[in-house]
Amino acid sequence: MAATKCALPEELRGFGTEISPTFRAIARTDSKPVEACLTEESAPDIGNEPIPAHRYTSYEYHREEVEKIWKKCWQVACREEEIPAVGDHLVYNVAGLSYIVVRTGEDSFKAFKNVCLHRGRRLVDSSGCGASHFKCPYHAWTWSIEGDLAWFPGKWDFPAVKDGSHDLRGVKLERWNGFIFINPDLEAGPLSEHLGGIDRHFATWPLDKRFAIWHVRKTIRSNWKVAMEAFLEGYHLMMTHPQALPSVAEQGTQYDLWQDGKTAFSRSITPAAVPSYHSKDTTALDAIKDMWALLNGLRMDDAPPLPENIKDRASLAEWRRGALAQMTGADYSGLSDAMMLDSVQYWLFPNFCPWLGEGLPLAYVFRPDADSAETCYMDAWMLIRVPDNAPRPPAGKLIELGPDDPFEPHIGAMGTIFDQDDFNMPMVQIGMHMWPDELPGVTLGRYQESRIRMLHRMVETWLGRPPG
Ligand code: FES
Ligand SMILES: [Fe+2]
Repeated sequence: MAATKCALPEELRGFGTEISPTFRAIARTDSKPVEACLTEESAPDIGNEPIPAHRYTSYEYHREEVEKIWKKCWQVACREEEIPAVGDHLVYNVAGLSYIVVRTGEDSFKAFKNVCLHRGRRLVDSSGCGASHFKCPYHAWTWSIEGDLAWFPGKWDFPAVKDGSHDLRGVKLERWNGFIFINPDLEAGPLSEHLGGIDRHFATWPLDKRFAIWHVRKTIRSNWKVAMEAFLEGYHLMMTHPQALPSVAEQGTQYDLWQDGKTAFSRSITPAAVPSYHSKDTTALDAIKDMWALLNGLRMDDAPPLPENIKDRASLAEWRRGALAQMTGADYSGLSDAMMLDSVQYWLFPNFCPWLGEGLPLAYVFRPDADSAETCYMDAWMLIRVPDNAPRPPAGKLIELGPDDPFEPHIGAMGTIFDQDDFNMPMVQIGMHMWPDELPGVTLGRYQESRIRMLHRMVETWLGRPPG
């Protein structure tokens, strides 16, 4: 996909100061050449219209999304290492639909509609390990993990069942960078078409050389777009995550958008180890100290003194290269300071947010958890580099959280941040129901919230109403 021409002028794309520069300024002065994908810019002007609130609350709008997006689009179901052995399987539920994803061989996977073809019971209720077959709990009809109907009682009584007629119905499955994507639409094009150019950006950052050290899934009392939008901009940091401001220059975030017909991805790059413009009393060295503490998993006031050789962004990045190389055996020497420190987050339509670089090696997915506009799942994986020449270990056990369960006791510091985000999401959902009729919709910043606007452009495009 060709990069879209930058249409918003520089002065409308964030601002920086000497102590709190924009990412674009940092990329010009980094101690090593910044990777080509991080120097690409694409900030088209995609408008400034309000976003109608009913897109978050209307059951009819949700049903349109089910029929035209969730039944038609490539979507992430899981990581490969979450089903590491033959017969390991999981249930992928989205918007009232249900699919079985199973490892059928050392390097092969299949996905099926999760329905027993006798009388329609959901065939598999929960994830499992090492299955040789799937047996329906109602009348014992049994399928192999390849989907063939293997056995059922009273065969003499079912003349309609012929060879192959009642095999499980497969859906499309493809893999990218350790993630398993499915697509219920058997007429859909290949995943490579849907990826657009995002695979080019990740070519030098292979996520299949990583494994999920943890995977947490939380039910959120909000529309899936409300939840995801909380992660598509850095504008909320000042109010929602004030503890981050001493070492995260959120006002200098770069936002990029790429669209090609029905495919789109976007990105934000937020500078780290430099203070926010909004953290007025923080010095450049304070920001380094703060990030040093964070990278060591400590609070700033608990952190050991900064080593003498760490005095700026470049030396902090160099320390991190060494620490990560020691941990993984991988070579980090050619990677930029930005790759070591900054928060580089991508989004691929409709709901997948993989991060790039060691700043925050995460991935998120958001989807309706039921046939409702009002609730969703948020999935988050922490992806750790596998040591060179070592096999990818199995994933950490899935942590499932209800809507009132906090993240923090399970995943520590990252959980504190998610809990702060989750404090807003259900309240946004409640507020959306109160949106005044005389205001045409939610107000978005033209640049800082442009990734949210791109999400809505794409949803509307898939619903058959491409914005003019
Ligand atoms: S509904 Fe599954 S065996 Fe009868
Ligand atoms: Fe946040």
